[in-house]
Amino acid sequence: PAALAELLLSRIREVPDHPQPGVRFKDITPLLADPAAFTALTDALAAFCSEHGATKVVGLEARGFILAAPVAVRAGVGFVPVRKAGKLPGATLSQSYELEYGSAEMEIHAEDLAAGDRVLVIDDVLATGGTAEAALRLIRRSGARVAGLAVLMELGFLPGRERVLPALDGAPYQALLTV
Ligand code: PRP
Ligand code: MG
Repeated sequence: PAALAELLLSRIREVPDHPQPGVRFKDITPLLADPAAFTALTDALAAFCSEHGATKVVGLEARGFILAAPVAVRAGVGFVPVRKAGKLPGATLSQSYELEYGSAEMEIHAEDLAAGDRVLVIDDVLATGGTAEAALRLIRRSGARVAGLAVLMELGFLPGRERVLPALDGAPYQALLTV
């Protein structure tokens, strides 16, 4: 695990003052471009998926899609997207969540999850936790169960973990890196 964390961390690029002055953006594109690192990340998340008996993987638009889809394939389970509002054509469940300025909304096709499904939510970053919390609420509202939440990195200087733990209600949480 220490070697994995070191490999992943070495492939994340810090971009100063993006998207605003004072923010150090954590860019995952070097990790995605490195097949050894992307495979190691996918394998670690697929192991977490299998360990906790997930039957579906949910990825969060947009960067969560990139990480979650190969995990679903590797773990042998289905993939379900949670999209930003207005993109999914069918019958959707919607959940709004607070942003630093204003609010946003995410949606899921409820029929893509069955009542017996155990769902692992995957995203790249846990910052305030608002995005992940909204996704966990969507899954519960669909009638499926939450198998867990996994992120590549948690921003340790923000209280995202405290925000998502109640929404997880005892289901496991894993951050491969805390930055
Ligand atoms: C980013 C990131 C996480 C979310 C974390 O997504 O990919 O999904 O913010 O922030 P939070 O914990 O405070 O909710 P964003 O919507 O900015 O962009 P993306 O579409 O590129 O994933
Ligand atoms: Mg995102």
